[in-house]
Amino acid sequence: MDRLYDKLISYNEEDYYPMHMPGHKRNTKLMQMDNPYAIDITEIEGFDNLHQAEGILKQLSDRISRLYGAERSFPLINGSTAGILAGISAATKRGDKVLLARNAHKSVYHAAVQMELKPIYCYPQKIDELPVNGGILAVEIEEALITNIDIKLVVITSPTYEGIVSDIRLIAEIVHQHGAILLVDEAHGAHFGFHKGFPKSSVGLGADLVIQSFHKTLPSFTQTAVLHSNRRELNHKIEHYLAIYQSSSPSYLLLASIDRLVSMLEDEANSLFESYQEKLDKFYRTLGALKNLTLMDRHIVGHFGIYDLDPSKVTISVKKTQLSGHQLQEILRKQFHIVMEMEASDYVLGMTSICDTQEGFDRLANALLTIDKDEVDLKEKQNSKTESLPQRQTIIHKEAFLSKEAKSTKEVMLHKETRVPRQAMFPYEAYEHEAKQIKLLDSSGRIAANFVSLFPPGSPLLVPGEIIDERFVDYVKQMQQEGITITGLVGEQKDEIEVVD
Ligand SMILES: Cc1ncc(COP(=O)(O)O)c(C=O)c1O
Repeated sequence: MDRLYDKLISYNEEDYYPMHMPGHKRNTKLMQMDNPYAIDITEIEGFDNLHQAEGILKQLSDRISRLYGAERSFPLINGSTAGILAGISAATKRGDKVLLARNAHKSVYHAAVQMELKPIYCYPQKIDELPVNGGILAVEIEEALITNIDIKLVVITSPTYEGIVSDIRLIAEIVHQHGAILLVDEAHGAHFGFHKGFPKSSVGLGADLVIQSFHKTLPSFTQTAVLHSNRRELNHKIEHYLAIYQSSSPSYLLLASIDRLVSMLEDEANSLFESYQEKLDKFYRTLGALKNLTLMDRHIVGHFGIYDLDPSKVTISVKKTQLSGHQLQEILRKQFHIVMEMEASDYVLGMTSICDTQEGFDRLANALLTIDKDEVDLKEKQNSKTESLPQRQTIIHKEAFLSKEAKSTKEVMLHKETRVPRQAMFPYEAYEHEAKQIKLLDSSGRIAANFVSLFPPGSPLLVPGEIIDERFVDYVKQMQQEGITITGLVGEQKDEIEVVD
C-alpha cells in the first residue's frame, strides 16, 4: 500500500517539471523553511488570533493591504474558496438577487446556495476561433442591471483560468451607478500589479471585494489566499463570516508562508518580476516558430471583451493538429516529464510563476517545438501519399487564434453564448429537494440536483436547478471519451447523474 508522505518525497526526487500550481513550483533553491514541526502552532499566547487579529497577524494583514492598495485585507488559510463564501455572504442578505458570471467557480454557487440567493447570469463572450471564452462585457452587465433593478451584488471572474481579463474599471463604474456591489474573483491574479508586463489588479480598479489565491500564482503554500475589501462597512460582516468558513485552528505554517511571501514581495518584487518577464518574453518569442500548435498571445486583446491577457498562463491550442488536448498533455507528461495544469478538449494549460527556472521554460518550449515538428512531418507524409487530394492547407500560424473577420471585430460586438441552460429552480431550491440517480443518457429534460463540472477548473457545466438538455448529455459523453475528468457524475461507470425527484 502506498504511503502518502513517502510518495510525495519520491515524486519530488523524480524530474517531473511542474507547469501547474502551487506557484512556488517546489523550487527549494528559492523557497526554504525550517523543519515545519518546529513552527507548527496555532493561536497561543503572543501569536495573535486570526479571527480577531490585533497583534502580529493584524500587522501581516496591514502589510498585505499596503502592498495591494486595499482598504483592508484578510489573509486566508482556507483558500479563495473561504474568501468567496465570506465575501458573497457579507455583501448580500438571504434571498437577494445577484448577477453572476456563469463561468464562476463552484464556490460562488456554493455561496449562492448557502445564502439562498436568486442568481441571474451573464455569460463571457463566445469565440468560435478560440478554444477558451472571452471576457465579460460591461454593456451586458449594464443591461442586466437596468432590467433587474433589485440586483444587490455582481460577481465576475477576472482573470479566468486562462488569463482572460475583463474591463473591471468600466464594470465597477456601471455596477456602482446602479447601487450594487462588485466582487471580483481574482483567484488567478495575486501576481497582478507588481510589474508593467502583467495586468493591473482589480483592487485598484474600483472593485469592492477582491479575492486572490496566493498559492496559485505566487510562492506560497496551498490554501493560502486573501480577501481584499475596499468597503469598510462590510468588514465586520466579513470577519463574522470568515469565522464560519475558516478553521478555528488556523495553521501558522500557512500563515508563515503568507508572511514569507509578503516579505519577498516587499523586498524584491521588482527584480523577481523583471527576471520572470524576461524568461516569459524569450519563451513566447521562441514559440513564435510553432506551425501547428498555437500559443495564445496578445493578438486576442481588444476583442471579445478581452481587456487584457495574463502572459503567465500558457494556453496551447491543438485545434489545428491531429491531437486532442488530452493527448498533448499525455505526451508532455510521459515523454518530456512536464506536468501541465489542465487539459481540455482543444487545449492544454500551463501555469508559470516567478519561481519557474530557465530550465523549466526551455524544457516546455523545446517539447512543444518537437511535438509541433512531428505534426508537420506527419502531415507531409500523409500529403505525399495522397497526391490526388487537394494540397495541404497552408501552415497555420499564431494569428490562427483569430480569423480575419474576428480581428476586425471590435469589443462592442456581442458574441453571445447560445448554449444557455434554462433555470427551472434556484440552486438552493434544487439542493433542498429529494434527488435520485438516473442514467445520464435518460436525463434530458430533467432538473439537475447537483453540480457537474470539468475538473479543473471547477466552474460548473451544470448548476443545480438547471434543465439538462441533449447538448449537455452529448458534450459530457464526448469529454468522457476524450479522457477529460468530469466531476459530479455518479455510479460506478460515472454514467449516472443526480436529478430532482
Ligand atoms: C476562478 C477560481 N476561483 C476560485 C477558486 C478557489 O480557489 P482556492 O483553491 O484557493 O480555494 C479557484 C480554484 O481553482 C478558481 O479557479
